[in-house]
Amino acid sequence: MIDSHSLKRLFPSNGTLPDEHRLAAQIQQRTYLVDGRLQTWDGPCKTVLSPVCTTLADGTVQQVPIGSYPVMGEAQSDAALDAAVVAYDNGRGKWPTMTVAGRIACMQKFVKGMVERRQAIVSLIMWEIGKSLADSRKEFDRTVEYIQATIEALKDMDNGHSRFTVVEGTIGQVRRTPLGVVLCMGPYNYPLNETFCTLIPALLMGNTVVLKPPQYGTLLFEPLLEVFRDAFPRGVVNTIYAPGELVVPRMLASGKVNVLALIGSSRVAEHLKKQHPKSHRLRAVLGLDAKNAAIVLPDADLDLAVKECLLGALSFNGQRCTALKMLIVHRTIVDAFLDRFTAELAQLKIGMPWESGVHITPLPGPHRTAYMTDAIEDALAQGARVVNEGGGAFCSTLFYPAVVYPVREGMKLYREEQFGPVVPVMAFDTVEEALDYVITSDHGQQVSIFGSDANQIGALVDPLVNQVCRVNINCQCQRGPDVFPFAGRKDSAEGTLSVADALRAFSIRSMVATKQTEPNKQLLNAIVREHQSKFINTGFIL
Ligand code: G3H
Repeated sequence: MIDSHSLKRLFPSNGTLPDEHRLAAQIQQRTYLVDGRLQTWDGPCKTVLSPVCTTLADGTVQQVPIGSYPVMGEAQSDAALDAAVVAYDNGRGKWPTMTVAGRIACMQKFVKGMVERRQAIVSLIMWEIGKSLADSRKEFDRTVEYIQATIEALKDMDNGHSRFTVVEGTIGQVRRTPLGVVLCMGPYNYPLNETFCTLIPALLMGNTVVLKPPQYGTLLFEPLLEVFRDAFPRGVVNTIYAPGELVVPRMLASGKVNVLALIGSSRVAEHLKKQHPKSHRLRAVLGLDAKNAAIVLPDADLDLAVKECLLGALSFNGQRCTALKMLIVHRTIVDAFLDRFTAELAQLKIGMPWESGVHITPLPGPHRTAYMTDAIEDALAQGARVVNEGGGAFCSTLFYPAVVYPVREGMKLYREEQFGPVVPVMAFDTVEEALDYVITSDHGQQVSIFGSDANQIGALVDPLVNQVCRVNINCQCQRGPDVFPFAGRKDSAEGTLSVADALRAFSIRSMVATKQTEPNKQLLNAIVREHQSKFINTGFIL
C-alpha cells in the first residue's frame, strides 16, 4: 500500500546514505566569476537543500543540506553586466573580433575542462534537483555532445560564408556577427543542458555573457567557474548569484542587455522584456510554458500509446517542458487506457535518485508537493477522481504520481502547467473536441497523436502543425534529437533552438559590399591575401 508512511520509508536515514553517492563534502561556494577573476564573497549566503530527505532519529524527515552560495545584490550584478559590456567593447573587444577558429579553440579548451569535472557536476545535478543518476549523466553527456555539434555547425556555417558573391555588379561577403551582451538564464529541470543550449551558441557567435544560474541547480556551476575563467578572455563570461526579481529587471532596465536568453515562464519573460528602455533593441530567445497534449484515437495501438504516454507524462517526475501534461483519450477506449496506464504506472520504481532503475524521485521542495495536492483537490471538488492506487500520496518532497480523471474545463489541471507527477486525463467523442483543446490553449509547443488510420492522422496533422511546432505521431513529445528545430507558438517560446538555429538566434548577418571595379577587386584580393581582416577572408576551418 502506498501512503505517506510507505513513502517516508523510502528516504534513507542519516547513516544509510550510500557512500559512493554521497557528496564528497558540502559545497560552500564563496566565489563568483566577474571580469576574468574569481572574486570572493563575504556577504550573506543561501543554504542549498536537496530534494532528497533523510529521516532523523525522532522520525521527522528533513531535506539534506548540500552547501550554500552567495546572495549578492545590485552592486554585484551591475559589476557583472559592466564587465560583459567592457569585454564586448561595442564589438571591438578581443572576443567579438576573434576569428571563428580562435573562438572554437577556446570552446574546445572549455569542453575539456568541463569533461574533467563530469563526476562532480553529475553528482551535483542529482543532489540539487533530484534527477536520477542515470538521467543526470545523460544530461551531462548530451550537453557535451550538443557543444561539439554546435562547433561543427559553426564551422559549416562559417565556411559557407568564406566566399564573395557577385550580384548585379556588387561584390559582397556576408557573415554572421554577434549581437552584444547576452543575459543567460536556464531552468531548474535541465539546469546544465538548457542553460548551455543558449550560453554556448551565444559565446561561439562572439557575444559576451552574464550567466545567472537557476534557483535550483546553482552549485553545479561552481566547478565550472575556473574553467570559464581559463578558457575565455576576461569578461566574456560573468556570473551573478542574486535574487532574480532584484537584479534581472534592473539589468534589462539599464539598456545594456542586447539578448535575453531565458528558459522559464512567459509571465516572467513578458515582465522582463518590458523593462528594456528600447524594446526593439532587445532580442529575446525564450523557452517558456507548455501544456503538451496527447490525443489517443480509438484505433491506437494501446500498448504503445500507454507506454509513450507514461514516459511522456512522468519522465523526471513530469518536470520537463516537453512533458505530456494532458491526455485526451477517445471515450470508447478511455477505460481500457486507464486500466493499462495505471497498471504500468504501478510498476514504476519510486525512490532515491541514485537507485538503479528509479523513475519517480523527490521534487525540489514541499511547496511542489503542496501545489500538486492543491491541483488534485481542486479537480476532486469538481467531480474528478484519482484513478490509481496511492495516487497523490506524499511525504515531504516525495510525491506518488496521481492519474486524475475526468478532467474538464474550469479545473486547474485543465489549463495550468502542473510540471510534476500529476497526469490529467479527459475523454473526447469527436476529433473536433480534441483539436479544440489545442486551439484554445495558451500554449503551442508540441502535441502527440496516437492512431493507425492514415486518413485520420493526416487530417489531424494539417491543422495541428499550425497550432504547435512539432506533431509527434505514435510517440511522446520531446526536444531531441537536438538538430531538429525546438520552437513553440503562443506562450511557449520565442525563437528556435536547435544546434544550427541557436547560432542564428544569437547573431545577425552583416556584410561588406563594394562595386565590382578593378581597383575594388584588387583591394579585396590584397585584404584576403595579406590577412588584413577577420571578416573579409576566404579561409576554411577544417
Ligand atoms: O524541459 C524541456 C527540455 O528541453 C525537454 O527536453 O524533451 O529532451 O526532455 P527533452
